[in-house]
Amino acid sequence: MKIFMDTANVDEIKEFADQGIVYGVTTNPSLVARSGRTQADVIPEICRLVPGPVSAEVISQDCEGMVREARELVKIAANVVVKIPCITEGLKAIKILSAEGIRTNCTLIFSLAQAMLAARAGATYVSPFIGRLDDIGEDGCKLVEDMVKVFRTYNLPTQIIAASIRSRAHVDRVMLAGADIATIPTKVLKELVHHELTDKGLAKFMEDYQNSLQK
Ligand code: G3P
Repeated sequence: MKIFMDTANVDEIKEFADQGIVYGVTTNPSLVARSGRTQADVIPEICRLVPGPVSAEVISQDCEGMVREARELVKIAANVVVKIPCITEGLKAIKILSAEGIRTNCTLIFSLAQAMLAARAGATYVSPFIGRLDDIGEDGCKLVEDMVKVFRTYNLPTQIIAASIRSRAHVDRVMLAGADIATIPTKVLKELVHHELTDKGLAKFMEDYQNSLQK
């Protein structure tokens, strides 16, 4: 499973890009707004920081507008992937863009049926939002498990980006489910490296080492 960062904050991406852990980045209009900058401003910078795909989302809600925006977005850098919402007009746009060789990430996926439609339209990636399904009392990770099964059964090349991740448990479950990618917010990514027993074990090693010097 590849690790992407789910943020439009360039400083946060820089910190992790240096560690070589992060392959790609996903953004959306809310994340860009939270960064305090514009999409036109942040996407080129993000594209230089990571080697893999960087998702930038369209604002239009009609097929023609989405296609127009997508063609402009991919001019920014070779690793731009165009994020398109899973609505009827979005699926039409994905079909056109896929025929042009433009990579897409179909976003706001909340059901197996939506995932299948996006894959059949030609989406390169699909993004199920697991945290938001949990928010309404459903099991978001179960959707990822089911999507992996279905995509394998029908031999679909579309890759699954588990999105709207809120915890380490989410990361573990989508990894076990076989998600191709987990896009992880910075706060959760920072938590992943820590384990109480690692800190405790390291403290004990250092203590024993210091004691051994005094013998
Ligand atoms: O990648 C999708 C993500 O940004 C949405 O996360 O926590 O707002 O549901 P959240």
